[in-house]
Amino acid sequence: MKDTFYITTPIYYVNDKPHIGHAYTTILADVLARFYRNMNRDTFFLTGLDEHGQKVKQAAAERGVETQQHCDEMVPRFTDLWTKLHISNDDFIRTTEIRHKEVVRNILQTVMNNGDIYKAEYEGLYSVSEERFITDKEAESGDFQDIKKLKEKNYFFKMSKYQQTLVDHIEANPKFIQPEHRKNEILGFLRQPLNDLCISRPKTRLNWGIELPFDSHYVTYVWFDALINYITSPGFGTNESSFNKWWPASYHLIGKDILTTHTVYWPTILMSARIDLPKSIFAHGWWLMADSKMSKSQGNVINPMDLIDDYGVDPVRYYLMREMVLGQDANFTMESFIKRYNSDLANDFGNLLSRVSTLIKKNYDGKIPEPGDLNESENKIKDAGLILISNLGNKIEEMKINETIEDVMQYIRSVNKYMEKHAPWKLVKEDKESAGRILYTAAEALRISAVLLSPVMPKRTSVLIDALNASDALLQWGGLTPGNHLRDHHPLFPRIKI
Ligand code: ME8
Ligand code: MG
Repeated sequence: MKDTFYITTPIYYVNDKPHIGHAYTTILADVLARFYRNMNRDTFFLTGLDEHGQKVKQAAAERGVETQQHCDEMVPRFTDLWTKLHISNDDFIRTTEIRHKEVVRNILQTVMNNGDIYKAEYEGLYSVSEERFITDKEAESGDFQDIKKLKEKNYFFKMSKYQQTLVDHIEANPKFIQPEHRKNEILGFLRQPLNDLCISRPKTRLNWGIELPFDSHYVTYVWFDALINYITSPGFGTNESSFNKWWPASYHLIGKDILTTHTVYWPTILMSARIDLPKSIFAHGWWLMADSKMSKSQGNVINPMDLIDDYGVDPVRYYLMREMVLGQDANFTMESFIKRYNSDLANDFGNLLSRVSTLIKKNYDGKIPEPGDLNESENKIKDAGLILISNLGNKIEEMKINETIEDVMQYIRSVNKYMEKHAPWKLVKEDKESAGRILYTAAEALRISAVLLSPVMPKRTSVLIDALNASDALLQWGGLTPGNHLRDHHPLFPRIKI
């Protein structure tokens, strides 16, 4: 087994500026990548943009600019946000790049050579916004507003040929589609006969896309093009050693809206091209505003930039990671944001640092005191910290991010209680050595908590670790050096006044 870790986000459409939903998936991928890097796994993290298709062309037309120019102008909207959010991606892919177009044409030709593409005339109902033919049943569902009848000659991918192989793969690999209820949803869908996939658009109708290698009158259907980004980036067909190092991907992270494309279209395309399937596709739920999906048409989109400007990047990352149980929907409200911030970050986490550093500055010349021999209560704190460290790997493997965070927060709360119980601010007057031991223990527990939370809040935790004058990544008890001077710092999480 290779122990590399390769994680992807969806590549986002450049038809609109990024919103909190896009930010969420990207932050989640970033947090996972950082956790794995902290656990010394060789990690590759990919994100990027989906620039072809009708929607993007339409968005450019509405602005009255050339489509490529529109794409180029949208790029910084995303990359600036990712920089601001401390996203640590290793590559950023755009589907209009030559490296990508070449791989798409390569795969199309391979699938064609393998006998899995045919040309046919098809008449059916077409959803303009979804950019695909839909079934009568879908048309009746009321989920599609812009249906038209379309009769067209197109190229089709023999997806149906791989239906049974796909079902077998899903059943043999319980982690292939996560969480479990999404796997069951797709297995249910695959109990009906699978249609073949229309993978071309005639240039007379849409000329914004990757030209088919075997027919210059057509461009490639945007989804057939977009999914391939996941193999373009690690070097399929161009850099064999890199490709073999990273592929198959550990996780494709997606929102539940794009489950079918990732768990049916993508694996069958890979099967036809004789490429290994990704290890896991993980679908998270939606951020809802007052119980309805956040979307442009609903007019209830939260702009992540505003939140960051008002409250800082790390608290926003913390809230998004702490509040969503992976796989389920979550409600975004300003009330819950402020409540989380004030109780977890200001009262528990920030307060522990300011207590500890104030006492050390006042009574120990600002130098970390000697730990001495730990008593039973100190050993309890130490052991609880070690348990957190040893559980980390499993929790992260199981994608229990919010649980991991809550475990650390409970630990911090227990250290605050320990401080209250032993009151080093009183004890220091009669027994400076014992008070020093308590402060060392609390400070070391705080340092470990900061290292554990560093994937979630990389900047604020590094301020904390720096304030304690400690080296950063050590996940062991005893990372603080007695005698080291505390460094000045701004309040870590100033309370939000309501
Ligand atoms: O679908 N809550 O791009 P897209 C949580 N280009 N996540 C949300 C969200 C919400 N309310 N809204 C969006 C596409 N997302 C294609 C993908 S991949 C080969 C091609 C996130 O710009 C979520 O991850 O519509 C969702 O899957 C993604 O944004 C869709 O972004
Ligand atoms: Mg979308």
